[in-house]
Amino acid sequence: MRSAWLVFALVPVISAFYLSKRDELLFRSWAAQHNKDYNTEEYYQRLQIFTENKRRIDKHNAGNHSFTMALNQFSDMTFDEFRKAYLWSEAQNCSATKGNYLSSNGPHPDSVDWRKKGNYVTPVKNQQSCGSCWTFSTTGCLESVTAIATGKLVPLSEQQLVDCAQDFNNHGCYGGLPSQAFEYIKYSKGLMTERDYPYTAVEGICVYKPLLAAAFVKDVMNVTVYDEMGMVDAVATHNPVSLAFEVTADFMHYHQGVYTSTECHNTTDKVNHAVLAVGYGQENGTLYWTVKNSWGSSWGIDGYFLIERGKNMCGLAACSSFPVV
Ligand SMILES: *[C@@H]1O[C@H](CO)[C@@H](O)[C@H](O)[C@H]1NC(C)=O
Ligand SMILES: *[C@@H]1O[C@H](CO)[C@@H](O)[C@H](O)[C@H]1NC(C)=O
Ligand SMILES: *[C@@H]1O[C@H](CO)[C@@H](O)[C@H](O)[C@H]1NC(C)=O
Ligand SMILES: *[C@@H]1O[C@H](CO)[C@@H](O)[C@H](O)[C@H]1NC(C)=O
Ligand SMILES: *[C@@H]1O[C@H](CO)[C@@H](O)[C@H](O)[C@H]1NC(C)=O
Repeated sequence: MRSAWLVFALVPVISAFYLSKRDELLFRSWAAQHNKDYNTEEYYQRLQIFTENKRRIDKHNAGNHSFTMALNQFSDMTFDEFRKAYLWSEAQNCSATKGNYLSSNGPHPDSVDWRKKGNYVTPVKNQQSCGSCWTFSTTGCLESVTAIATGKLVPLSEQQLVDCAQDFNNHGCYGGLPSQAFEYIKYSKGLMTERDYPYTAVEGICVYKPLLAAAFVKDVMNVTVYDEMGMVDAVATHNPVSLAFEVTADFMHYHQGVYTSTECHNTTDKVNHAVLAVGYGQENGTLYWTVKNSWGSSWGIDGYFLIERGKNMCGLAACSSFPVV
């Protein structure tokens, strides 16, 4: 870090004159905060991307939107880079999900938050640079469902799913679906703990040891495609549910408030990120889902986000599922 700063100090700032001094100072303090260590060429490239992101964020925040944006750990990346590092690249066909979850039709409470009902939700995790969100959505859901059933909240292994669940149409760091991961756990007869099969963020050889299985799946419940009321019913009457939706460039910079987008699609074939709905509510006249993400706890609202509910926003009702234990 120290040597990199020396290089920065020696490079004439004039070469990036179209950027203001203020932009550059902000970039330097952001880079220090996020332990970024660039070479000179990278420094100017990242400074430019950072500044473009910052302008987008400022413009958005100056408008009248239901959510705000902020700088975060992704602020020196273009959306294209972000997409390759963090989202699915293998298309997932959610329409294949034939719903077997039977909704009770309510009535349902106005708001639910499984984090407040007891010790049912593990701390936010970080998938790092690997499109393994589907494994975090899967473990998050199974952790909660198991804790609700047994009273014991145990962090479960994403790596087992990254390394071992390929036969169920999953692709390690290149994507997968929670419903297919639950099927894998059901047929492989268990999932190990995070401690016994730790996360590495790269696909490796499957070293699943059935004797160390700590969580089990008896059955997989798929909510019918686009049945968002069915998702409300499941969260209100059973447990948190896994869902997938389409992340577009604006979501990278999400800070707080209820996320809505006109950039994303509401179809089954565009979803590229899986997460976990731990509750829902209503604020300022807007219905929303409370969702646990897997980009660390410094992103969004302590690692969570709110997204508009009731409109199949960004296809979030396209492939929702949860396990029965
Ligand atoms: C901001 O948007 C909200 C909801 O769309 C609207 O009710 C409010 O009047 C708007 N405020 C301004 C200052 O435009
Ligand atoms: C997606 O699944 C549907 C229903 O099973 C099928 O008709 C369609 O061909 C599939 N699309 C792709 C791209 O696999
Ligand atoms: C649930 O979805 C998974 C994967 O999408 C599928 O393999 C399974 O057959 C579905 N289960 C039911 C009962 O429809
Ligand atoms: C609701 O509005 C208040 C006041 O404008 C704001 O502070 C709060 O963040 C809003 N809540 C949501 C969920 O957008
Ligand atoms: C998708 O959005 C369009 C336009 O708003 C709407 O007409 C359609 O019903 C939506 N489809 C689904 C499945 O939510």
